[in-house]
Amino acid sequence: MSLLNVLFSPDSLLSSKEDEESHFDACVVIDVLRATSTIVTALSNGASEVLPVLNLEDAIEFDKNGYLIGGERGGIKPSGFALGNSPAEYRMDVVMNKRICLTTTNGTKALINARELANDIYVASFLNLSATVEKLSKYENIAIICAGNDGDVSYEDTQLAGCIVEKLHAIRGYDLSDSALIAFNLWQNLWQRLGRPQFTGSHARKLIKLGFERDVEYCSSIGVNSIVALYDGKVIRKFEG
Ligand code: MLT
Repeated sequence: MSLLNVLFSPDSLLSSKEDEESHFDACVVIDVLRATSTIVTALSNGASEVLPVLNLEDAIEFDKNGYLIGGERGGIKPSGFALGNSPAEYRMDVVMNKRICLTTTNGTKALINARELANDIYVASFLNLSATVEKLSKYENIAIICAGNDGDVSYEDTQLAGCIVEKLHAIRGYDLSDSALIAFNLWQNLWQRLGRPQFTGSHARKLIKLGFERDVEYCSSIGVNSIVALYDGKVIRKFEG
């Protein structure tokens, strides 16, 4: 049986870990505003790897070891960091052939926790939607993990989760968990009404207030690059082949 499951926040991730049956063939992590969109942009612009870490202190250690360190707290670049968490900063002239160490509030935490659920961990955004879906469709049981907002559901992550569910289900008729059905129905409703994602949730509004309106717009662009990003439990690299 092939099953798609959506975990709406790191809290559902934790309860899933306690369930012995919940080891998946693959999982895909979503923090569409903005960590996973930033990771996909960095790799697409030539970064050799992205290493997610939980704490600012850990990132600073990697700074000493030649990594370019990036991330945010409260949406803002931490003091002493080379880069924030805006995908616009991860330009080719900045990241080409560089190793990046990234720490963000929810996204890097979701990635690190995902290691408990599956060995094959993909990193998704609307930017690399089709390439990611095509790769995921080779797997039977898939967990779609939303980073959420500080333990709460994220409107934007849920839209991408629903979009991935819709596309995977169209390829091979997966069974859908209740959470997958919720995300799928949200996405179908939006797509029929607007024909695009709707980034108007609390985190999108916060980013706009902080002056990151262009990030919000960019992160809602569908399929602008065709990379597959694979996290091996230590670093995230472009999947080749
Ligand atoms: C996070 O990991 O919580 C985010 O990516 C926050 C942000 O928008 O920078």
